[in-house]
Amino acid sequence: MTRTLPLNAHLIDVGPLVYGCMALGGDWGGAPVTETDIAHAHAAVEAALDIGVKLFDHADIYRRGKAEAVFGELLKRDPGLRARVRLQSKCGIRFADEANVGRYDLSADHIEHSVDGILRRLAVEHIDILLLHRPDALMEPAEVARAFGRLKAAGKVGHLGVSNMHAGQMRWLQTALSEPLVVNQLELSLAKLDAIDAGTTFNDPQVGSRPGSIAWAGTLEYAQQHGMQLQAWGSLAQGRFNDPAASAAAQVVHEIAETHRTTSNAVLLAWLLRHPAGIQPVIGSGNAERIRACADATRLQLSRDEWYRLYVTARGQALP
Ligand SMILES: NC(=O)c1ccc[n+]([C@@H]2O[C@H](COP(=O)([O-])OP(=O)(O)OC[C@H]3O[C@@H](n4cnc5c(N)ncnc54)[C@H](OP(=O)(O)O)[C@@H]3O)[C@@H](O)[C@H]2O)c1
Repeated sequence: MTRTLPLNAHLIDVGPLVYGCMALGGDWGGAPVTETDIAHAHAAVEAALDIGVKLFDHADIYRRGKAEAVFGELLKRDPGLRARVRLQSKCGIRFADEANVGRYDLSADHIEHSVDGILRRLAVEHIDILLLHRPDALMEPAEVARAFGRLKAAGKVGHLGVSNMHAGQMRWLQTALSEPLVVNQLELSLAKLDAIDAGTTFNDPQVGSRPGSIAWAGTLEYAQQHGMQLQAWGSLAQGRFNDPAASAAAQVVHEIAETHRTTSNAVLLAWLLRHPAGIQPVIGSGNAERIRACADATRLQLSRDEWYRLYVTARGQALP
């Protein structure tokens, strides 16, 4: 199964599965990266490569920069690694500090400054894709376009995408950009159904649209119409469907896994892969064995009936 970004004749083969690096780099505090953290990251990255992952997803904030730093250390220690990976990172979230509340910042200065930090920590001169991590209430598309234009001209960033943005925000941002947005990464799994619900229950909210799901109206459709790659973060539902006794949906996931002689995680990923939008699940496990077991998902073709059984059971309510 190949998955390419069909853009500007720069076809990037990004594979069906993405590895999310948020679990790498040790704790979320200020302790330096240790050899144990490096060994852990090495095992996770090798497992991801073994199952065909090509694209590695970062953010400047993961482990407060240490996820990128530990990945940079792997790149320094293995000169052949850079050619085997595509790199994606994100900016735009600023943690609270003594002087400021936690906030979003998609100003040109912050974007450009963040990318310099990303490149330094990853020890590379270029990343393939930069994502705007979350919508900034003060975002100005022209300013984003100016920052991206400079980063692109300097050879620091290949493509621009977004994360956690709905259709209206993407459409608005796109008005100022001379290149298409290539990715939207949003939370999507059997535990986070808003973007799917937005398209199926919009005309009958009484029957169970979740609060907030309506905000996602048209988001999946916008991405498909414009050839954008959708990526699902939280694709393993953070382990919540692991125990069949935990919920009716976990039980169904388990039953379908048994039928196909695979793991519950593979069923969760196959559920995303079955969607016609060509959604790329972003796998966030830091456990090499669990990462390897995800390979089954790309061989597993869920039937329409299985897909809907999983969806409706996870909703906890029949469709209208
Ligand atoms: N764009 C955004 O706003 C955003 C937000 C969050 C994350 N992300 C990206 O998406 C990636 C994945 O997100 P995520 O980490 O939230 O979600 P995830 O992949 O759904 O969950 C990973 C977590 O679930 C645990 N887990 C998975 N399967 C399990 C099982 N069978 N049993 C027990 N525990 C299990 C993992 O533990 P183990 O490590 O022990 O396997 C890990 O702690 C991140 O790495 C990051 O790249 C993006």
